[in-house]
Amino acid sequence: MFPREPITVVEVGPRDGLQYEPDFFPTEKKVQLIDLLGRTGLTRLEVTSFVHPKAIPQFKDTLEVVAGIRRRPGVIYSSLVPNVKGCQRALGTPVDELALFVSASESHNRKNVNMSLDESLAALAQVAEMALQGGKRLRGYVVTAFGCPYEGRVPLAQVERIVRAYREMGVAEVALGDTTGLANPRQVAEVFPALREAAGPMGLAAHFHDSRGTGLANALAAYQAGVRVFDASVGGIGGCPTAVGAMGNIATEDLVSMMEEMGVATGIDLDKLLEAARLAQEVIGTELPSHILKVGRPRWAGLNRESPGCPA
Ligand code: COA
Ligand code: ZN
Repeated sequence: MFPREPITVVEVGPRDGLQYEPDFFPTEKKVQLIDLLGRTGLTRLEVTSFVHPKAIPQFKDTLEVVAGIRRRPGVIYSSLVPNVKGCQRALGTPVDELALFVSASESHNRKNVNMSLDESLAALAQVAEMALQGGKRLRGYVVTAFGCPYEGRVPLAQVERIVRAYREMGVAEVALGDTTGLANPRQVAEVFPALREAAGPMGLAAHFHDSRGTGLANALAAYQAGVRVFDASVGGIGGCPTAVGAMGNIATEDLVSMMEEMGVATGIDLDKLLEAARLAQEVIGTELPSHILKVGRPRWAGLNRESPGCPA
């Protein structure tokens, strides 16, 4: 029932997490956080976003952050880009991968990037061409893939259309995003296999938010459905008290702990990851949602791991 095939974790905290933080996370702390994350064994880090600084002031220092990172060999550094302008800004920087995004629902896409879905797809095709010519690897997000806070259920055909469009653009991997935490495990178990054919050679990644407490259950359902790439955010950062439904991604520590306990290798050192989570918590100044950060990793030394029954 539970295979033991390893997974790859994509750390998105410095982008998806911080984009919802109302207070500015100082540039040198962003760089410090990214460098700490790079030492944990994580091989993929989404570090920033080339969006309009007026839309997301948190990323007004994108260029400084990218320039400040001490690049670690073997780590793929990625950044979000919304449009051609963002791509132009990103091309001269050392990020390895550009992450495109479009929402599966019209209203969300309009609110997010001020474009219709068709306009976004046309713009992204241009971005993809420029990015590939510039030697960047491409990731594509389907935002609100499991449901939209404005439109409710999202037709699978709409998600499939975007997946096919990404494939034509030369995208290497598509991440299905449960942006406002509406997905449930049964839906996850159905959606990923249903898109396998449309995805063809592209990898499919799972991007879950824990807004309604279903994040890890969804991750497990995706794993059982064959997904091996998971997005997560250090400390579970990203909860925003003012935007309904905009809660953090599943916490990287919680995902890594659960998977490792199940015998699924992540290649990530949980203690080093906790160091990064503590830094994020200290800078943000409020208790982060991560469970492992609160209670600590499971410790089995001196205990009988085979039958960890509770005496009470
Ligand atoms: N970076 C910096 N500046 C940008 C930009 C980018 N990626 N894209 C556009 N601009 C600038 C333009 O140059 C123009 O500047 P000017 O007024 O000095 O000429 C101005 O912004 C308006 O350009 P326009 O193309 O009309 O953009 P817009 O106002 O329709 O905004 C987005 C579109 C996509 C740039 C904006 O909505 C955005 O950044 N959204 C981010 C959403 C996001 O990150 N969501 C979370 C991820 S799921
Ligand atoms: Zn997200």
